[in-house]
Amino acid sequence: MKILVLNGPNLNMLGTREPHLYGDRNYESLCNMINGFASQKGIDVEIYQSNHEGCLVDKIQQAYGVIDGIVINPAAYTHTSVALLDALKAVSIPTVEVHISDVSKREDFRQVSYVRNYCEKTIAGHGFDGYIEAMDYLLQKYGG
Ligand code: DQA
Repeated sequence: MKILVLNGPNLNMLGTREPHLYGDRNYESLCNMINGFASQKGIDVEIYQSNHEGCLVDKIQQAYGVIDGIVINPAAYTHTSVALLDALKAVSIPTVEVHISDVSKREDFRQVSYVRNYCEKTIAGHGFDGYIEAMDYLLQKYGG
């Protein structure tokens, strides 16, 4: 199965960025963890990060007909982007929303998620493991 892992703005700054919230491991170590799990489970994974909303929309559109499942951490665009929600609806690919931190316990403006209206499941507050849980969920449900 083919899974696309999408990461939004500032996630390339992991390790440096607010370590009390996001931990001290960097983006490369997140990618290594995702790639390690994928190769262990026979998943064909592509990982993409962008600080630009339109680039994330383009990547979702390009997944149409090619990708079986999407794991998305839209980062700050979670709380603002109708465009990402509409892109996910347009391609109709099973998608899981992931957040490293527990957004439910943070500021009011983080309580809204536009993509959640489309996503099958949301995993928040499980750190980097949330990405593995999301991939495993997609594998169990759509991998056969
Ligand atoms: C985040 C939570 C968002 O509110 C924030 O804007 C991020 C990261 C998370 O992974 O916990 O950039 O999506």
